[in-house]
Amino acid sequence: MRVDVLFGVQQLTPQDVQGRVVAVIDVLRASTTIAVALANGARAVMPTESPDDAVTRSKQLERGAYRLAGERRMLKMEGFDLGNSPVEHSREAVEGKTILLSTTNGTKALLAVQGARDVVVASYVNLAAVSTMLRTALRGGADITLVCAGHERQFALEDAACAGRYVHAVSKRLSGLVLNDAAFAASLIDKKFGDNLMRLFTTAAHGRALAAAGFGDDLTACAAVDSFSVIPVYQDRQITLLGPDRER
Ligand code: MLT
Repeated sequence: MRVDVLFGVQQLTPQDVQGRVVAVIDVLRASTTIAVALANGARAVMPTESPDDAVTRSKQLERGAYRLAGERRMLKMEGFDLGNSPVEHSREAVEGKTILLSTTNGTKALLAVQGARDVVVASYVNLAAVSTMLRTALRGGADITLVCAGHERQFALEDAACAGRYVHAVSKRLSGLVLNDAAFAASLIDKKFGDNLMRLFTTAAHGRALAAAGFGDDLTACAAVDSFSVIPVYQDRQITLLGPDRER
């Protein structure tokens, strides 16, 4: 079995994900926000191609049943209900709603991995829950690809570090696993920062940009390891929680 890491989706080919279990990581902030929204009772999160696509798709839903959410240049779009801040996706804001989400990198990465056997949304806040699901898949003979969304077609340090944490968590005490070089590199980055995720985030360019834009609380929320025991799975154009009605 393989555990591969991909830094970005630009070079992604169907073979990288076909038949595999894929975890998409955009720690700052899309994958964290998706986990938080679903943990807070959102009915589903629908990744959309663009803000216009989100608006178009909202027309097929009942008024009051959805929230338009996402960001461009880190900020909520005009006419949208919510930004891409995990703090904003509170129970009060999202419970029972379908979140139509458009973000710069995270939702694009999710849309790029179609063809995978399963797609799961991974971050620090749901590390243990998602790692358990991935380990079960590995034990069952599946290959895993951890896809780092990156930032504006560039390598993103925080996604690589988080992928490294997953590599460590899923491969613990499993023999015969083959890792690609990016998985080894991601593990080294994770080891370099260890549990000091605020140092990781304030070293990473996007983390610094978020702090400068007044989203310091989001960094704290994104660093809250295992604060939510949720496994968000992307299937049939929507992300919902893996549970009794959505088994793997
Ligand atoms: C993205 O998808 O590009 C990000 O999550 C950007 C952000 O809102 O911080």
